[in-house]
Amino acid sequence: MITLRALQRSEVAQVWRIDRSEVIHNIYVLIEGKLVLMPAYFDAKGWPSGELEQTIPDLLDCFDRGGWCWGAFDADQLVGVALLESKFIGAANDQLQLKFLHVSSAYRQHGLGKQLFELARAEARIRGARWLYVSATPSENTIHFYQRRGCGLIEQPDPELFALEPEDIHLLCAV
Ligand SMILES: CC(C)(COP(=O)(O)OP(=O)(O)OC[C@H]1O[C@@H](n2cnc3c(N)ncnc32)[C@H](O)[C@@H]1OP(=O)(O)O)[C@@H](O)C(=O)NCCC(=O)NCCS
Repeated sequence: MITLRALQRSEVAQVWRIDRSEVIHNIYVLIEGKLVLMPAYFDAKGWPSGELEQTIPDLLDCFDRGGWCWGAFDADQLVGVALLESKFIGAANDQLQLKFLHVSSAYRQHGLGKQLFELARAEARIRGARWLYVSATPSENTIHFYQRRGCGLIEQPDPELFALEPEDIHLLCAV
């Protein structure tokens, strides 16, 4: 049985246990303000080299700033994680970033990502945000997942977040 609960700080580093494997056949690119689907084959066997060394301290900083961090467990195994930033961004200071959302490969397509996303959206609402900001991996599956949650292209990406991940698709979703 899968249980969802708040993660303790000491559990955040366990995100490396999430199986990041994914075969990607198409990615979205932004051309003249429009999303265009392009063939691009990647067979990711796990986390890209060096990514976790950079990501885990970043997630811990977010946790320490008061970020919201939720995990999905199969018994004691972490199989999904969502993190919501605590810092408001946007011209009207009314956006919170969904900083991290990953579900282990074998657990995808069972509604877990959707549950974690909706919990993060509800938390953003409680914290007074109007919008959830998502810097999304451009793979077809990921963009379709966010679109089905109601996310749409942002007109003005956050400059700092865009500089960090210029190939991501930057989306906004009403909370
Ligand atoms: C994107 C990602 C988080 C989605 O997680 P997921 O658990 O596969 O997503 P879900 O299963 O909740 O949703 C996928 C679809 O399966 C459906 N689904 C399938 N079985 C279901 C079930 N038993 N119960 C509920 N929904 C189910 C969902 O309804 C959803 O369809 P919809 O979007 O049309 O509503 C996951 O694919 C992932 O980790 N990808 C790799 C990493 C990544 O790209 N992360 C995002 C970084 S920005």
